[in-house]
Order: sequence, then structure tokens, then C-alpha cells
Amino acid sequence: MARVALVTGGTRGIGAAISVALQKAGRLVIANYAGNTEAAQVFQKTTGIETMKFDVGNYQECLAAVNDIAARHGAVEILVNNAGITKDAVLGKMTRDMWDAVIDTNLGSCFNLCKASFDGMKEKKFGRIVNIGSINGQAGQYGQVNYAAAKSGIHGFTKALAQEGARHGITVNAIAPGYVDTEMVRAVPPDVLEKIVARIPRGRLGKAEDIARGVVFLTSDEADFVTGSTLSINGGQHMY
Ligand code: CAA
Repeated sequence: MARVALVTGGTRGIGAAISVALQKAGRLVIANYAGNTEAAQVFQKTTGIETMKFDVGNYQECLAAVNDIAARHGAVEILVNNAGITKDAVLGKMTRDMWDAVIDTNLGSCFNLCKASFDGMKEKKFGRIVNIGSINGQAGQYGQVNYAAAKSGIHGFTKALAQEGARHGITVNAIAPGYVDTEMVRAVPPDVLEKIVARIPRGRLGKAEDIARGVVFLTSDEADFVTGSTLSINGGQHMY
């Protein structure tokens, strides 16, 4: 039977590429989304991938979603925590709400969904968790204390949970994408983005598929000995 994969934020941007790549790799994919129902409907229609609306920052909603998937398809064996938002501002202009929203959605979601699916993976003695961090969690970024803290937190979370999962056959890894050509990155002011791209040795923004290929590798049965690692996919912008 196909392994069941849940991809959060899986209908747009990097997440959409991950969902499609996992489907091509033979997984039964469920792509979560938060608000953009129109985009999700188009995605479901064009790919045939089931979409599921819930708020990854809300623990009860995550628990209900994972239980629903388990009842209909079997336990989630592959979890890709990809959903993320930005609310950029320098510290002086950042509100407490901007901080909370980014921490809850980007980092709280990893706790919520790993907790909701961990026991099912333990029972199967198999699990693959990939958390999508960021170059900005490794290196920091002007105007992103919230995002950098959340993404940096993801990298620590990954290494801690990897130690808990190892004896159960559950691997937990992170990918740290650099600047990838998505709506999120296109929202960066053009003059700022130009300077950022000029510092990428590979000379271009990443493609969502560049990240998806890493997820396919880390979630394969064969990647059993890879855990607690962070795979940087950033065109050489930051060598960590
Ligand atoms: N380093 C040093 N100084 C900087 C700077 C930087 N990187 N960026 C801006 N500044 C300076 C400006 O030159 C300016 O200085 P002066 O007042 O002396 O002219 C000052 O900071 C204020 O800059 P802005 O006028 O741009 O201030 P703002 O409040 O309008 O906007 C900002 C600030 C929100 C941080 C804006 O510059 C911005 O959006 N920057 C991009 C942040 C970014 O890269 N976000 C990544 C999003 S993509 C993502 O997160 C995906 C991923 O994982 C990679």
C-alpha cells in the first residue's frame, strides 16, 4: 500500500511542488491549506491530490485532521511541515501579534502535527518527518526576528525529535531553503531582492522543485540512516 503523506501548506509554492513530487514517488498525498480555497480547488483538480483545510497553528484542528486521515487512509507515515508565513518588519515596528502569528504558524505547527502523528508512526515502526526551515533561521535576516526565531527553532526541534524517533524507525530532518521563486519571496521589495540574488553564488533564485527533490530523498525508505540533519538548498548563499 502507498505510504500516506501529509504536506502542510501543500497547495501553493514550495509545498505544491513537494506534494506533486511525493505523488510522483508513489505516495498517497494529502495537501493541507489554510485559507486560499480557490487555489486549493485548482490544485486538487489539476493534480488529483486531496486537499484538506485546517489551521496548522491550532493543535485541536491538527489532531482532528490527522485522526481523520488515519481513519480514511491509514496513519500518516510521512509528514512534511512546510506551512509558513512572513510578517516582516524591523523590531521597532513589529507588533506582538506579528510575532505570535509567525511563531504559531511556522514553529507551533511542527509541535502540533508531530505530536498528533508520532504515535501512529511509532505503531508502524516507520516515520519520515521533514521540517522546512530556512536560510534565514541559520543566518538571520534584517526585518525578520519573528521568522528567523521560528525557523531557527525548527532546526533545534528537528535535532531533538530525531533523538526520540530514532529507536522507533522515525527519521526527523530539516531542509533549509534559500531564496526560492515563490509568492513569499516575490513580496520582498524589488531593490532588496536584487541585492539578495546578487549574493547567491549560483546566480539565481531557487525553484520549488529544487526543494521538493530533497524532500523525496529524505522521505524515501532508503534514507533510513539520515536523521537529525539539515539539508541546505540555497545555491551556495550560506554554507553552514
Ligand atoms: N541590512 C542593513 N540595513 C538594511 C537592510 C539590511 N538587510 N535592509 C534595510 N536596511 C535599512 C535601510 O537601508 C534603511 O536604512 P535608512 O533608514 O538609513 O535608509 C532602513 O533599514 C529601513 O529600511 P526600509 O525603508 O526598507 O524599512 P521598512 O520598515 O520599510 O522595511 C523591511 C524593512 C520590512 C525589513 C524591508 O526592508 C524588507 O521587507 N526586507 C526584506 C526582508 C526579507 O528578506 N524577507 C525575506 C522574505 S522571504 C522568506 O523569508 C523566505 C525564506 O525563508 C528565505
